[in-house]
Amino acid sequence: MKYSDTTKLKHLAQDKISRSANPAIVRNSTIFFKSMQELLEKEKLVKKGSKVDFYEYGRAGSQTTIALQNFIAEFESAHATFLTSTGFGSVALAIISICRPGDEIVVTDAVYAPTRMITSKLLKEFKIKTHFYNPEDFKSLESKINKKTKMIFVENPGSNTFEFQDLSRIIKLAKKKKIITAIDNTWGTPFFIKPLKLGFDMSISSGTKYFSGHSDVMLGSLSVNKKVYEKVRLCNKLFGYRASPDDAYLVLRGLRTLDIRLKRHEETTKKIINFLKKEKKIKEILYPHKKGTTNYENWKKYYSGSTGLFSIVVFSKNRNSLYKFVNSLKLFGIGQSWGGFESLVLYQSHVIQRVYKKYIKPNHHIIRFHVGLEDSNDLIADLKQALKKIK
Ligand SMILES: Cc1ncc(COP(=O)(O)O)c(C=O)c1O
Repeated sequence: MKYSDTTKLKHLAQDKISRSANPAIVRNSTIFFKSMQELLEKEKLVKKGSKVDFYEYGRAGSQTTIALQNFIAEFESAHATFLTSTGFGSVALAIISICRPGDEIVVTDAVYAPTRMITSKLLKEFKIKTHFYNPEDFKSLESKINKKTKMIFVENPGSNTFEFQDLSRIIKLAKKKKIITAIDNTWGTPFFIKPLKLGFDMSISSGTKYFSGHSDVMLGSLSVNKKVYEKVRLCNKLFGYRASPDDAYLVLRGLRTLDIRLKRHEETTKKIINFLKKEKKIKEILYPHKKGTTNYENWKKYYSGSTGLFSIVVFSKNRNSLYKFVNSLKLFGIGQSWGGFESLVLYQSHVIQRVYKKYIKPNHHIIRFHVGLEDSNDLIADLKQALKKIK
């Protein structure tokens, strides 16, 4: 029988061995075998990519991490899922598994700043050239592709400026040119979009964010198709990537309520955006909310919902008054790692200046919000009092 994601999220982590609703937290380094033959057989199965219920060595994981890997793989319709200790670890693993000296990589211009650093700075030292493309202009992507292009790395939407791209067009182009595609899908999560089903080779989620939802753990997941599985498996093993069983357990616990939380994040965010739309000092809201715009249409084409992270563009000749606005919010904490239960705010223009120049006009500023699970009326009242500080 086929179940919906909502049902799957509730049942995928049941522990068949202990017959418990939750898997055990198994911490291990050594794993015992009944015989040498069993050990060798296990190694073979892991190499083949078969589902296993235990590994041959603790570095590869334990029953708890396997439970989470299998959970995410099923949820993403992936051939396999690899876990890393942070979301950024999964970004790095995706890239280093594929790119080699002499290759080129094409990356969304509005990408998460550390991803930009790894591609533009570190890869350069390994003779891998990075091209950044404008996510709002498909031709810009096309023009960066050449015979050396090995990978297209998409972040959709850009997690500060929220451009939504025509993903199928990118996949079609990549398939035609035999280029590997990866997407950072942390914003949408596999609940709202399934990149591997669309045709991406790799799908990354920072489990630190919505998967866990409680701001108390860091973890990354890299889900892959059969085509790239062996390359990623090898790098994952040789670089010693691993997620801790305790962190995997917390992410599993969070995933059970992912659907409910995301719907609430979405509902409250829409209410907040309706309120902010009327505020004259706000020039633009960077969120897929305006029908008829390319961003909205691309979002609608590929996503079944929207989450709680967005930015606003504010006009002000007084930067200090924007800091005052941010500082005087009582329910929005000043913090960076979004996707938890709590609301957040950040003055972001300093990041954008490095990353993506379109919004940098005189006296325009970008402020990013994450809308948490608080009461929407309380959040709106908080914004109302703080907005008075902007001069
Ligand atoms: C879009 C995106 N990808 C990846 C990451 C990295 O995740 P982590 O903090 O788990 O390393 C972040 C973190 O903010 C992010 O916003």
